Amino acid sequence: MLSKILKKEAKTIGFVPTMGYFHDGHLSLIKTAKQHMDVAVVSIFVNPKQFSHNEDLDKYPRDLKRDEEMARLAGADVLFHPSLSDMYPDGYATYVNVEGLADTLCGGARPGHFKGVATVVTKLFGIVKPDIAYFGQKDAQQSIIIKKMVQDLNMDIDIKVLPTVREKDGLAMSSRNMYLSEKERKDALCLNQALIKAEAAVKSGERDAVKIIKMIEGIIKERPGAKIDYIEAVDTKTLNPVDRIVGETLVALAVFIGNTRLIDNTILNP
Ligand code: PAF
Repeated sequence: MLSKILKKEAKTIGFVPTMGYFHDGHLSLIKTAKQHMDVAVVSIFVNPKQFSHNEDLDKYPRDLKRDEEMARLAGADVLFHPSLSDMYPDGYATYVNVEGLADTLCGGARPGHFKGVATVVTKLFGIVKPDIAYFGQKDAQQSIIIKKMVQDLNMDIDIKVLPTVREKDGLAMSSRNMYLSEKERKDALCLNQALIKAEAAVKSGERDAVKIIKMIEGIIKERPGAKIDYIEAVDTKTLNPVDRIVGETLVALAVFIGNTRLIDNTILNP
């Protein structure tokens, strides 16, 4: 309803879909939406359809009061916080699956995850009717899938991907970082450190993707508390693995630090 009024008034809508528990990564998306668009809409919905049974849905951090205040200070005009039954009433039956792209990297490790993401984002887009939607580069595969979905389903929405926001010591900001103990927090730095070394190796002329992956693996394995889920070098459009780093290549990784699964990535473009 609100979106219809805004459209009638020819107001542009910038949209930041989130699962809440804000950090500076979310705030940078909200600030950018506010800066470039007439109205900045932020949604908070912890979407059960993108969690599998053994994942952290129940303990996923939530603090609506804190989020409301942070969103307001960052410039959000509208905060949309639907209930579970608003989004998935009894008898809900429709899903969106971006074939291929959703089955690799995090999709391989978390089957059904991106079907849940694509479904909820489609619903949120239908409700909010944004002109531009903002996502973070930390979830690189998610952004690539959403872009493909928007293109395939002829959604008239621009997808903007903003750089990963990092802590001072390089750890990519994530709501899940709060699960880390002090020791794990230190171990978690290996993700970014390994990616920086990979960037430097490519800058110095290394083009062999297997060597780059082995190097990253070596750095992460130095931390006894770290368990690699995957490390891959893939084409940024198809997400197909590459042997040589010649065009734009996404190096993405997921690593368990203790019980917490963290992701990070970099785009290499020699
Ligand atoms: O990136 C997230 O926080 C979620 O995957 C999203 C896009 C809000 C969908 O639930």
